Amino acid sequence: MDKVNLAENIFWVGVIDWNIRDFHGYITNRGTQYNSYLIRDDKIALVDTVKQNFTEALLENIRSITNPDNINYIIVNHVEPDHSGALPEVAKQLKNAVIVCSERGKDAIIEHYGSEGFKFQTVKTGDTLKLGAKTLSFVEAPMLHWPDSMFTYVVEDKILMCNDAFGQHLASSQAFDDEVDPAVLMEEAGRYFANILTPFAPLITRKIQEVVQMGIAPVIIAPSHGVIWRKNPGKIIQAYLDWSAGKAKNKIVIVYDTMWNSTDKMARAISEGAASEGVEVKMCKLRAATNTEAMTEILEAKAVIVGSPTLNNQMFPTVACFMNYATGLKPKDKLWCFFGSYGWGKGAVKGMTEEARKAGFEIHEAAIEVRFVPDAADLARCFELGKQMATEIKAKP
Ligand code: FEO
Repeated sequence: MDKVNLAENIFWVGVIDWNIRDFHGYITNRGTQYNSYLIRDDKIALVDTVKQNFTEALLENIRSITNPDNINYIIVNHVEPDHSGALPEVAKQLKNAVIVCSERGKDAIIEHYGSEGFKFQTVKTGDTLKLGAKTLSFVEAPMLHWPDSMFTYVVEDKILMCNDAFGQHLASSQAFDDEVDPAVLMEEAGRYFANILTPFAPLITRKIQEVVQMGIAPVIIAPSHGVIWRKNPGKIIQAYLDWSAGKAKNKIVIVYDTMWNSTDKMARAISEGAASEGVEVKMCKLRAATNTEAMTEILEAKAVIVGSPTLNNQMFPTVACFMNYATGLKPKDKLWCFFGSYGWGKGAVKGMTEEARKAGFEIHEAAIEVRFVPDAADLARCFELGKQMATEIKAKP
């Protein structure tokens, strides 16, 4: 990307990771970016660094704007290695810079990289740092999504550098929201929320309220992944409020796997029953669809129906993996139901139900289990289950 200006003397100096497809288990079909920003004033601040293997590219981008010796501050909004992996080398090269971070950020930096060669200045919510005409204001955002997470706000330019929040795993030669396909952008923003931020939904709502009460009204939201929101930052804020509140539509997601197609036949019958009531249905057959895709579909669904054949008296391994992933993310206010086929012994439906119960999910008790191959009567029961689930979610607000 050519030099990108967010405002006068505020530059994007990040890197584009076009080729990453697996971000610690999150399938990133459109790559990602590690966004860093350089703010030039009487004093100069670098906001966030990048993944370790892109260190030299970041340094090159910095050098294209200023001599690294001139940089006074490295703001570390978040210590996860995709934003701090380059920090040890960057701190060495920016030899006059002080690291500015939260108290917990300092602890995390030391736990990751030791303390040798680092000069720290810790900040908390409400603290400011004057660079000259520009002022940085800090807002701690613990558990969004790490304890150390922090936002940096450029007061005069109204630019919120919020690290992971409002990001997308989307590699793009275009830097801004108004330059990319809006449908792709919102799809990736939703995928990111569904697969990373879902467990923190209540905190997100509160943090947005707190930021508004502090008088922060950004005209630009500059996350650490993906494109920058400048056309309508309110759009992504509203989307986060909706997703955090569990706002959903009349949609059912059927996630399943199958061994000899019995569970597949059941899934199709359930799907037809649900669709006959006019609700949207998405089928995610594991091994064809990833957990990442399934959770993205679930984000705005009111119900999830999970199917698994029984293998060795347990859930099929891909379904067990999905249940582990989904119960960790805990999507809000969904109605869950289970089905599956078995041979000589049951186990899958019981296993899925127990996992869901432990996670506190709302469970529809009309689970269906079929021995070996579903016959016409079994498939009629499956059709009725789909219909019943659809009718019930349509009655939900
Ligand atoms: Fe993009 Fe939590 O790191």
